[in-house]
Amino acid sequence: MRKLRIAVLVSGGGTNLQAIIDRVEDGTLPVEIVCVISNRLQAGALERAARHGIDHAAFSIRDYPEQRDQDAAIVAYLQEKHVDLVVLAGYLRIISRVFFETYAGRIINIHPALLPDFGGDGFYGLRVHEAVLKSGAKTTGATVHYVVPETDAGAVILQKSVEILPGDTPELLQKRVLTQAEHIILPEAIAILAKEWKF
Ligand code: GRF
Repeated sequence: MRKLRIAVLVSGGGTNLQAIIDRVEDGTLPVEIVCVISNRLQAGALERAARHGIDHAAFSIRDYPEQRDQDAAIVAYLQEKHVDLVVLAGYLRIISRVFFETYAGRIINIHPALLPDFGGDGFYGLRVHEAVLKSGAKTTGATVHYVVPETDAGAVILQKSVEILPGDTPELLQKRVLTQAEHIILPEAIAILAKEWKF
């Protein structure tokens, strides 16, 4: 029985990618990371892939002025690699229709809040944590969900809460949500799908 083949799409430092790599390498996540794809040439996540001998590629907006061309090139690459599941891990582009024509129901995303709260257009990165702190909420957390055309609106797969501490800044909160929630539930959600999809 072959393993679930995943592609991880990134834009930044790649700590969520690293969490997946660590679980694959310690044998607790029986999937194959087939490739790492970034929309930015300088993404630190590409260096992480290189360090772990994982195929990686950048599809820079400089080479694809039209996003649909960028997405079409990425989807073609994913198909060539026989990717089963697309994992958005800090991928800062809103993917276009082209993805859904091929990968509908097979794209997941990690969001740094307990959706449906603090999600949707404009809620990404530190902005999420700024809004959470401003709301006076006592807890926040992270969500892994299916990706659908409407931003952050797909069915939830897994969530994990994290407490908000007095004196928290957006940066402190971002770090706690990353380490105590995101890095745990993203690999776990992939493991759940691998089992559900009978790999
Ligand atoms: C994190 O803030 C995460 O919540 C969001 O994008 C960022 C990714 O960070 N989805 P990293 O590149 O995985 O470190």
